[in-house]
This record gives sequence, C-alpha cells and structure tokens, in this order.
Amino acid sequence: MTIHIEKSWDIVDSTQVAELYEQAFGSKFYRAIPDKAKRIRVLSESFVPKYSFVAYSDKRIVGLSGFNISAGSLTGGIEATGLINSLGLFSGLWACLVFSLFERKPEEGELVMDGIAVNSDFRGQGIGSLLLDRIITYAKDNGYDSVRLDVIDSNPRAKKLYESKGFVAVKADSFPYLKWLVGFSGATTMKLELKNMADKELAN
Ligand SMILES: CC(C)(COP(=O)(O)OP(=O)(O)OC[C@H]1O[C@@H](n2cnc3c(N)ncnc32)[C@H](O)[C@@H]1OP(=O)(O)O)[C@@H](O)C(=O)NCCC(=O)NCCS
Repeated sequence: MTIHIEKSWDIVDSTQVAELYEQAFGSKFYRAIPDKAKRIRVLSESFVPKYSFVAYSDKRIVGLSGFNISAGSLTGGIEATGLINSLGLFSGLWACLVFSLFERKPEEGELVMDGIAVNSDFRGQGIGSLLLDRIITYAKDNGYDSVRLDVIDSNPRAKKLYESKGFVAVKADSFPYLKWLVGFSGATTMKLELKNMADKELAN
C-alpha cells in the first residue's frame, strides 16, 4: 500500500473528509448535533482545508490531521452564524455552546492540534505516525516553539502515538459531570517542545 501525505485538499472532497472526521469524533459531537447526517453536513461546510494534512491511498483520503494557529484552524469555520443558518436558531445556538467547550486557542509561538484521524480500516499501519510527523515538521519549519494537543483519557492508543514522538503530559483535567455532554470524563494536555529538537528527529 502506497500512502502519500499532502498539505490541504480539494474542497470537492469535503464530504469524504467529514465522514472520516465523523467516524473518529462523531460520539464527541453527538450532543452538539445529534443527527449524524447533519453533523457530516455542518463539518463538510465548515472545514478550512489549508490548516490540515491528509493521507491518500491512491485517490482516497484515508487520514487527516488538522491544526490550529493564530491565523486559523481546520474547524475554524464552525461559528454561530453558520450553525444557526444550517440548524435553525435554537439547535444552532446549542451546537455553538457545546462546540465552544472544545475550543483551544493557541498561545504565542504555539501550534495546537485540531484532530487526527485515520480511517478504521487503515489503522495500525503507520499513517497516524506519518500525519503527526508532517504536522511537527510544519510547526518547526514555520518557527513555532511547541505543539500542543489534548487527548481524552479513554484513548491510550493515541496517547502512545504522541509519547512515541516525544510529547509529554503537562496537565490533566477531570470533569466527570460533563461526560453526558462531551462523551468523556477527563483529558490530558500534552506538549512537544521544538526548540531543542534536532532536525534529524523529524521525518519529512
Ligand atoms: C489515533 C490514530 C490517529 C492512530 O492512527 P494509526 O494510523 O492507527 O497510527 P499508527 O499506525 O501510525 O500507529 C502509531 C502508534 O500508535 C500506537 N498504536 C497503533 N496501533 C495500536 C493498537 N492497535 N493498539 C495500541 N496502540 C497502537 C502505537 O504506539 C503505534 O506506534 P508503533 O507502530 O511504533 O507501535 C487512529 O487510531 C485514529 O484515527 N483513532 C480515532 C481518532 C482519534 O482517537 N484521534 C486522536 C484524538 S486525540
């Protein structure tokens, strides 16, 4: 299987990308937009492709890693007006409120991960690792000091992937009272400092 990674993607593929995102994160956004078809539609209308990398197997997109920088983010197009237009006033405002719980603003010199997902049929073959390498290389090439992400406590597989790249846990949050709303009860913030990282440690 030949996989190639590219920065950005054609907007005609937005439904394909939204379905991939939904497969990985749908349960997290269930309370925001309970209807799966509507979730996919809102996502596909909101993505900003230039803030992401995708993995292609032939012409099929099988992986995605988004990022968030001060200029914008993959999911930055999810905002109140669009949600209200798409879902109606009350459902749109509710979705906006729930999505705001997931918002992570980058600090000065920081790139924040905005979701990494590999199609379930393609996991365990190194695609997630390639996508993460590209984000780290992009952050380093563009002068960022660090990469930050949040990983939910019920996702040891993703945590292991981040640790293998040198990310270290810097904060742990527990919020069992929010589990009904966001689908998980705790998250760990992990950070990769790039300043002291040798170029040879990064894949191209
Ligand atoms: C997390 C995810 C992106 C990893 O993608 P992937 O393509 O399967 O990852 P890789 O094949 O590159 O594996 C990278 C590392 O992940 C870990 N890993 C992979 N498969 C694993 C498995 N079955 N069990 C435990 N760890 C596993 C290992 O550390 C592996 O490194 P190794 O090959 O040196 O052992 C993918 O599982 C996914 O899309 N999950 C759903 C969405 C998600 O949870 N995103 C992260 C949100 S923080």
